[in-house]
Amino acid sequence: MKILGLSFSPRERGNTELLMDAVLAGAGELGAETELYRVVEKNIQPCDACGSCFTTGECPIEDDMQYLYEKMLSADGILFGTPVYFYNITAQGKCVIDRTIALNHGGKSLSSKVGAVVAVAGSLGLVDALKDLYFYMVTRRMLPASFIAAYGSNKGDVKDFEQCMKASSELGRNMAKIIKKKFVYPDGKANYIAYGTHTF
Ligand SMILES: Cc1cc2nc3c(=O)[nH]c(=O)nc-3n(C[C@H](O)[C@H](O)[C@H](O)COP(=O)(O)O)c2cc1C
Repeated sequence: MKILGLSFSPRERGNTELLMDAVLAGAGELGAETELYRVVEKNIQPCDACGSCFTTGECPIEDDMQYLYEKMLSADGILFGTPVYFYNITAQGKCVIDRTIALNHGGKSLSSKVGAVVAVAGSLGLVDALKDLYFYMVTRRMLPASFIAAYGSNKGDVKDFEQCMKASSELGRNMAKIIKKKFVYPDGKANYIAYGTHTF
């Protein structure tokens, strides 16, 4: 059982990653093989809307996203972690999310993978970040386990919230437990829930 932690925080071992570490450690207690992948350390360019993935199923941008596609596809669970930047997820997160449009094609899919979110804000914007990542998971037909939302400004602030740290470990254990149930969507395709020009 593999759980990939995708950190969208530029701050190493900041509040987001402290909570993500706790989630991944909780999952590790139940036998999950875990990894925290720091997007900021990689070269991941924004989607340039070339459209070639629609026909080839492949993204032609040769950067670290190619490796991350494989990691995401081989994971049983994906933990998304983001600080709130200007009331939403960070630019690092948006780059990764947009590039996964290539996984809509060529028989690739994140369907049935168990998901979870950690979001940390100084004061305002948690719901917006959570909403975007939840919509993402639902439209990918991932199975959201739950989320941790926390407030903190300085590096390490969240360590003071004992309950939050405990809830994070619990979330990791729950991800592992849900993965063990081997849930599979009846239809593995991405879930399009708005109709119009993007309807397939
Ligand atoms: C560029 C930038 C924008 C931010 N925008 C917001 C914001 O809109 N709302 C908020 O509550 N906190 C905002 N923050 C504060 C961070 O969300 C907060 O410090 C958080 O703890 C950072 O998480 P980290 O330690 O994982 O990096 C911002 C911080 C930065 C650097």
